[in-house]
Amino acid sequence: MTFDHDPATAGDADVSTSTTPRDLRVGVIGLGFAGSTHLEAFSSLPGATVVALAGQEEARLHELGSASGVERLVADWQDVVAMDDLDVISIGVPNALHHPIAMAALQSGKHVFCEKPLATTGDLAAEMVAAARDADRVLEVAYNHRRRADVAFLADWLADDPIGDVYHARASWMRRAGVPGMGSWFTNKSASGGGPMIDLGSHVLDIALHLLGEPRVTSVSAVAYGVLGAAGRGGRVYGVSSTPTGAAFDVEDFSSALLRFDDGGSLQLQASWASYSKVHEDIEVELLGATGGARLHVDDYATDGTLTLYSDVLGQPAVTRPVVHVPSGHHRTVIEGFIASVQAGQAPGGAASPDTTPRYPGRYGEYALHRSRVVDAIYASAEQGREIEVPQDDPASGDRATTPTTTVTPPTGAAGRTEETTR
Ligand SMILES: NC(=O)c1ccc[n+]([C@@H]2O[C@H](COP(=O)([O-])OP(=O)(O)OC[C@H]3O[C@@H](n4cnc5c(N)ncnc54)[C@H](O)[C@@H]3O)[C@@H](O)[C@H]2O)c1
Repeated sequence: MTFDHDPATAGDADVSTSTTPRDLRVGVIGLGFAGSTHLEAFSSLPGATVVALAGQEEARLHELGSASGVERLVADWQDVVAMDDLDVISIGVPNALHHPIAMAALQSGKHVFCEKPLATTGDLAAEMVAAARDADRVLEVAYNHRRRADVAFLADWLADDPIGDVYHARASWMRRAGVPGMGSWFTNKSASGGGPMIDLGSHVLDIALHLLGEPRVTSVSAVAYGVLGAAGRGGRVYGVSSTPTGAAFDVEDFSSALLRFDDGGSLQLQASWASYSKVHEDIEVELLGATGGARLHVDDYATDGTLTLYSDVLGQPAVTRPVVHVPSGHHRTVIEGFIASVQAGQAPGGAASPDTTPRYPGRYGEYALHRSRVVDAIYASAEQGREIEVPQDDPASGDRATTPTTTVTPPTGAAGRTEETTR
């Protein structure tokens, strides 16, 4: 087994004759929920070793570092990305830092595991995808909720076309009082890119598009409000991110959007951090098909009884409730797949490939880019009070969308902002 410390080849194929890929050397950035979850997964899964950890909370840095046996502990992300003997940078920091960290990591030949959303805007996300393609390095995004066992069950079930064409779907993630750290980076648009739509809505958008077979979203019509959050209501203490930044609450606390697909279908997408609705977390994805339906309802992170299937039996309405238990650890599943993807490109067989043959086609974060484009369009639509066309990047060639977000219908007056709307 060889280990290559040359930055020019960090992450490249193992040229030893062994068929076992070497362990990936990982630097994790961030000490909050995301960073500590990445640390736990990369430290305990086979195929990876965490050798560096970064974060600004000094006591927590040393506590997590010594508990996981991480050699190098630093405060700033730049010091981890500059380490030339790492294969992977794992990003668990505020959204606005995803882009600069990923760009620097990819340009220095490292693979990137990035938290969702990929970036604060679609254009920044497109730059990251282009950098991953240019460097031929994996860019994976932590859309972990699609890895829930109930979502995987639904995806397998839908593969046999049991409900006919799905013409409409509904996806929502609603919280009664769950603004994550009032006054923290989460509630400041320049640090987060937006409120619950980019934070929670992107997860349920991901689940819905995944279950529907990845239709392209062509246009959106959306509204966004910040009534409770702007009044300081609906906050929740939230880990290390509860530290107030002193910045104003300038994101939405609720948003709703109608998305149109290229296949004629549609999706109603809703997300709230704070609203007078059910008392806790409420995640829902519902599919309406020509011959049946399906509903995923995760009430306060329920792990059982989350699925309901609708059909007709002998002409009578029938309801089926599959028994699917949902263990925790969806991040772990995504990271396990990420490690396998990176190692597949490093397998000895890969070393024989001509240099011009991409080792990681389709692994450059393209699907996450489309989610970022959709979220962008939702915010633009809410702000302008119009239906907005979603720019299309070519997933195969990597050609980026050239048109800026544009309007496609005249304002109706119904979808626009009110005086209370914050974005
Ligand atoms: N996939 C999920 O289920 C999920 C859940 C929670 C958060 N997230 C995402 O994870 C990311 C982080 O969220 P969080 O809740 O862990 O945030 P957090 O605020 O709890 O933690 C952020 C961490 O980033 C570190 N950081 C900030 N600036 C830094 C710098 N210059 N150099 C090094 N470290 C720096 C902070 O020190 C802190 O440890 C966000 O993108 C969020 O959307 C995803």
